[in-house]
Amino acid sequence: MKKRWRFAGCIALTIAWTSAAAAQSPVTLDFGPGKPVPPGDASMGQNMFTAICWACHSSDLSGYKGPPLTGPSFYKIWQGRRADALSDLIRNTMPKDDPGMSERAARDLVAFIVTYANRPESLKGGQNGK
Ligand code: HEC
Repeated sequence: MKKRWRFAGCIALTIAWTSAAAAQSPVTLDFGPGKPVPPGDASMGQNMFTAICWACHSSDLSGYKGPPLTGPSFYKIWQGRRADALSDLIRNTMPKDDPGMSERAARDLVAFIVTYANRPESLKGGQNGK
């Protein structure tokens, strides 16, 4: 009988743990046409990108002084990782020559970068103006 209770407790704990994890489940990055985009204002992100980031990452995100922020090599690094890991990286290290942006700005940039990959038709001018 005692053993049984411990077993039940174990299950309850597992359930509690899983649902707690689900409640605060981090948004993961998923690249591909039509896939979901993490929360953020992609259009604000696009404005910032074309004001600052393009200088090193190029206006079509294909990379210049900095690595590409689109395409297979970028997806390979970030696929399945947390969206806030990408926004933290941006917030803490970009723009490379003058880092330090708000959490909100970094989130909008992530929304833009993922929209560029997943729903480019929804961006101003479409992907690369095409
Ligand atoms: C002065 C050049 C420069 C500017 C401007 C710049 N970056 Fe970068 N970026 C780099 C370099 C170089 C790297 C490579 C990593 C490193 O050296 O820190 C990089 C890396 C990155 C990465 C990681 C890419 C990967 O492969 O994981 C992201 C994301 C990124 N930049 C986003 C941005 C965003 C968003 C902006 C605009 C706010 C921006 N960068 C502006 C130079 C720049």
